[in-house]
Amino acid sequence: MARGSGLRKSLATKFDDELRFFKGWIDKPKAVGSIIPTSSITARRMASIINPASGLPVLELGPGTGVITKAILARGIKPQNLYAIEYSEEFVDHVRRGYPGVNVIQGDAFNLDETLGPKDRIQFDCAISGVPLLNFPVSKRIAYINDILDRLPSGRPVVQITYGPLSPVPAGRGDYRVEHFDFVIRNIPPAQLWIYRRGANG
Ligand SMILES: C[S@@+](CC[C@H](N)C(=O)[O-])C[C@H]1O[C@@H](n2cnc3c(N)ncnc32)[C@H](O)[C@@H]1O
Repeated sequence: MARGSGLRKSLATKFDDELRFFKGWIDKPKAVGSIIPTSSITARRMASIINPASGLPVLELGPGTGVITKAILARGIKPQNLYAIEYSEEFVDHVRRGYPGVNVIQGDAFNLDETLGPKDRIQFDCAISGVPLLNFPVSKRIAYINDILDRLPSGRPVVQITYGPLSPVPAGRGDYRVEHFDFVIRNIPPAQLWIYRRGANG
């Protein structure tokens, strides 16, 4: 009985998140970029790039309803060691309520100097991005990856989710390497994961 009510509660929460996400997409289709949140399988795969032993904080960009936030915390990252940058006020409130202690910063992930401060202020272990890059010009995507990599130790990755067949950030256009990380079929729509890094693998 208690188990049944727990299941009903978690299904209701999931449905509530999907509705919230869909509403976000109706209001700002270009910024939200997808009509359904990332699946928990994809979220776990993205969070697998974290090295919890580094002791460094993790950077999340575009947390939306917090599916990936949850997977990051499940890797043993303390909420105060996670920084999440989100544009939409509604998603910011939602993530703050659902994941107390996480540093949720309302602002533009394309302007990290403003949202996080100067590059040497905080160094992150890695970065996990759900920002829909395909909706932005290529030059802006390249600047985005370079700016994030400036805030990671050499070799550490940025993982990006996308739905097209190609890397949203082309190789050979900046100080980074591009690696295909995974194709996750259990995601709506199926998702491609790409990794960007500098220097040797970390
Ligand atoms: C496709 S959703 C992904 C949400 C969530 N990470 C997931 O995977 O379900 C994109 C998210 O990026 C946010 N976003 C879009 N542009 C942004 C920007 N310039 N700065 C910060 N967040 C942004 C949107 O508000 C939305 O929450």
